[in-house]
Amino acid sequence: MSKIVENPESYFRNLVPSRDELMTTLEIQAEKESIPIIGPVLGELLYILVFATKAKKILELGTATGYSAIYLARACEAANGQVTTIENNHSMAEQAEQNFQQAGVADRIQIEVGDASELISQLQGDIDFIFLDIEKQEYIKLLPDCHRLLIPGGLLVADNVGFKDADEFNRAIAGHSDWKSVSLFSFLPLHSPENDALCFALRC
Ligand SMILES: C[S@@+](CC[C@H](N)C(=O)[O-])C[C@H]1O[C@@H](n2cnc3c(N)ncnc32)[C@H](O)[C@@H]1O
Repeated sequence: MSKIVENPESYFRNLVPSRDELMTTLEIQAEKESIPIIGPVLGELLYILVFATKAKKILELGTATGYSAIYLARACEAANGQVTTIENNHSMAEQAEQNFQQAGVADRIQIEVGDASELISQLQGDIDFIFLDIEKQEYIKLLPDCHRLLIPGGLLVADNVGFKDADEFNRAIAGHSDWKSVSLFSFLPLHSPENDALCFALRC
């Protein structure tokens, strides 16, 4: 029987997808300033999911410097899609806007500054893809709006569900008839943190 590779963490660290100078600059900034970004492995996974599902209307909760939103915007370019991203920290939102310009995706992303739970209630539906990446204890409160906004078969991806604060969310979504979901605990090089879980949920 074939065995698992030796030192899987360093093995898979060497297989991290390549990225451009802007993205590596944002990774270095995130490391220096302790900004918890998704990193290139989850970035590439989001790209693949958005591209493969041909998602056109994308919502992100938790922009920070715009690293993950740039992956989402690049992924929906072929489908002529649009990303709305919500961030409550004004300085982060300003940095994100500059980064969107630099990445050449500013026309594909609308940033809303304010509290996600307030702003999400004002949004209208027909969303194909939601990426949830704010404070983990907030996830549970946002779940009904995520369900309301997503089209049937739309995809919700929630980051950092390995955190204790996501426990209520994890238990609410697992096996619920509103969702078909799975959570994976994984090693994610350059993700914050590198050992963490992700939840993938189809809106039923
Ligand atoms: C984990 S970071 C987002 C990282 C980003 N998705 C990335 O990977 O590039 C979470 C961000 O959500 C913002 N945030 C936290 N709670 C929020 C809330 N209730 N409403 C809006 N933004 C919030 C924080 O200011 C922070 O910038």
